[in-house]
Amino acid sequence: MMDIKIYETKNKKEKPQSMDIEFGSVFTDYMFIMDYEKGKGWINPRIEEYKDISISPAALVFHYGQSTFEGMKAYKTEDDRIFLFRPDKNIKRENNSNARLCIPQIPEEDFMQAVIELVKIDKDWIPKSKGASLYIRPFVIATEQSLNVKPSSQYKFIIILSPVGAYYKEGLNPVKIWIEDEYVRAVRGGIGEAKTGGNYAASMLSQEKAHEGGYSQVLWLDGIEHKYIEEVGAMNIFFKIDGKIVTPMLNGSILPGVTRASVIDVCKSFGYEVEERRISVDELENSAKDGKLEEVFGSGTAAVISPVGTLKFGDNVYEINEGKIGEVSQKVYDTITGIQTGKIEDTFGWTVEVK
Ligand code: COI
Repeated sequence: MMDIKIYETKNKKEKPQSMDIEFGSVFTDYMFIMDYEKGKGWINPRIEEYKDISISPAALVFHYGQSTFEGMKAYKTEDDRIFLFRPDKNIKRENNSNARLCIPQIPEEDFMQAVIELVKIDKDWIPKSKGASLYIRPFVIATEQSLNVKPSSQYKFIIILSPVGAYYKEGLNPVKIWIEDEYVRAVRGGIGEAKTGGNYAASMLSQEKAHEGGYSQVLWLDGIEHKYIEEVGAMNIFFKIDGKIVTPMLNGSILPGVTRASVIDVCKSFGYEVEERRISVDELENSAKDGKLEEVFGSGTAAVISPVGTLKFGDNVYEINEGKIGEVSQKVYDTITGIQTGKIEDTFGWTVEVK
């Protein structure tokens, strides 16, 4: 167990009146920080007031993007218990991302302890309204002062918390997604499967283009042939084609989503056949034209389950399920959010209670 130093603050902030606020725009009273120094390892774990931090303008993170992050959520149940959803998977993924970015590993039990202690101290910030939760954003930044292109010898591991409602303004109403055929997000061998800011920076130009056209996000195609479906800006993607649930297989350039893995298990538990495989945009268009593309939905920690009502590729626009949420999307949403908030029994063993 780490000895986490707690610096109490008297500067308690007002909590939002409603969860109808922009995703990730409000932060709690506290944050967790620890430092890394080469030769010493992770040191000085502390929980202190959420506030600006001071780092060198030459910190490596600003110049060469050596950073990783995670996203998970804490939920309050009807009877005021606090649940985390599969935090072990996020912790492992953070360390996988760290390995890819030459960032030192964070001991899993220390990471878990930090999340639990921080959530406990800010527990009054966990919203209880439907669809709301406390988003947990752990991240690591390279803080060594250097313009040399090299892995940093110093880092900060920080966890901040943000009460959130729905990720998209549409809520559970279907979103419109644009299939991007010009730019790509990631290529095999690149950093696509790591959760690192660069992947999101690479996505913004396309996202802006999509927004201008009235679409919420883009669906990426593979970086080599521009032919196979990868993922959406902030979610993995699922299709119901001719009765089967299909999602792109993990290939090194797709983020291995925790919600994605959970959707696969939930769909199998419902008795659906689930295929993780390559899906070409041709197959998708043909299945839409043949009336076999029955449902489309995205999955993510922030987005939860987000039905897709419209897909656009080039000049072709496809309406999915008459623009309405599909039966599987609704069932998966109800099941996953039910487990997360303790309304449905967790037969999968996914929830971790914070006590
Ligand atoms: C998440 O779903 O937690 C994400 O990190 C996606 C996005 C908000 C960057």
